[in-house]
Amino acid sequence: MAANEMATLSTAASAMASSLASSLALYPSLAGKTAFVSGGGSGIGAVIVAHLAQQGCRVAFCDVAAAPSEALVSHFAPAPVRFFPCDVRDIAALRATLNAAEHELGTITILVNNAARDDRHALEEVTPEYWDERQAVNLRHHFFAAQSVAPGMTRQGGGAIINMGSVSWMRGTPGMIAYTTAKAAISGLTRVLARELGVHNIRVNSVVPGAILTERQIKLWLTPELEREFIDGQCLKFRLTENDVARAIVFLASDEARAITGHNLIVDGGLAQTSAG
Ligand SMILES: NC(=O)c1ccc[n+]([C@@H]2O[C@H](COP(=O)([O-])OP(=O)(O)OC[C@H]3O[C@@H](n4cnc5c(N)ncnc54)[C@H](O)[C@@H]3O)[C@@H](O)[C@H]2O)c1
Repeated sequence: MAANEMATLSTAASAMASSLASSLALYPSLAGKTAFVSGGGSGIGAVIVAHLAQQGCRVAFCDVAAAPSEALVSHFAPAPVRFFPCDVRDIAALRATLNAAEHELGTITILVNNAARDDRHALEEVTPEYWDERQAVNLRHHFFAAQSVAPGMTRQGGGAIINMGSVSWMRGTPGMIAYTTAKAAISGLTRVLARELGVHNIRVNSVVPGAILTERQIKLWLTPELEREFIDGQCLKFRLTENDVARAIVFLASDEARAITGHNLIVDGGLAQTSAG
């Protein structure tokens, strides 16, 4: 990553933190908790890290992109925000990372499974190997991260797990069927994990973003026509931001949501609703 891109990311993190302080609801139950965010180095994940840090959480995150991740950590220094380089496709490495994060920051009681890659692919070009790799980056690690942190959450008397879904499968969005299939499965995974882990007071929910125009989305896919399509399709006629998603996540992580589990919280301005059926 170029030095000027790092500077941009740092500025974005800085803008986030200062605007948050004045405009965010604060949840006292989050202060002092240890949170882990996968894919927290850029995009929505970086804003989730910023929101959790602003709430007084001790935040660990992993990512494959070192430069933006290190920029995010230095922005928050000396606050307890830690970056662990880790590719979530490697489950042994992910388990070791979660252990290392707990060793440094304490038992994880908030887990945000956020890492994903929404690469496009033509249906006829998908090979079995590519399919498996897409499930590894977009689905498999959600389960294994939850499995790893559940015993510690149980010992602490409970916890909150939030899986990132996507409205793309609800809308039948073409051109990325391996991704949309994985995101559809997150809805089922969330409901069943909520049942399996609820006996330990561990809540499992999914936040389901609509069209959030992150740097990657803008650089790779956005055209004026696509943006118009999103706004036309939404009930609400404004551009959604990473903050809209992060706000839903801190709420679900907090004790304010103590009775909410197995839920898909759609944050899309009404996009999926207007395209359904
Ligand atoms: N942006 C949107 O409009 C949108 C819409 C629906 C759902 N989502 C979901 O929200 C979440 C965040 O999306 P985003 O737009 O910020 O994505 P993004 O691609 O901008 O960021 C993803 C982050 O995950 C990291 N990452 C990618 N592969 C990884 C790997 N193998 N191991 C560890 N880290 C890895 C990336 O480096 C990056 O920091 C994803 O789960 C995505 O599916 C986003």
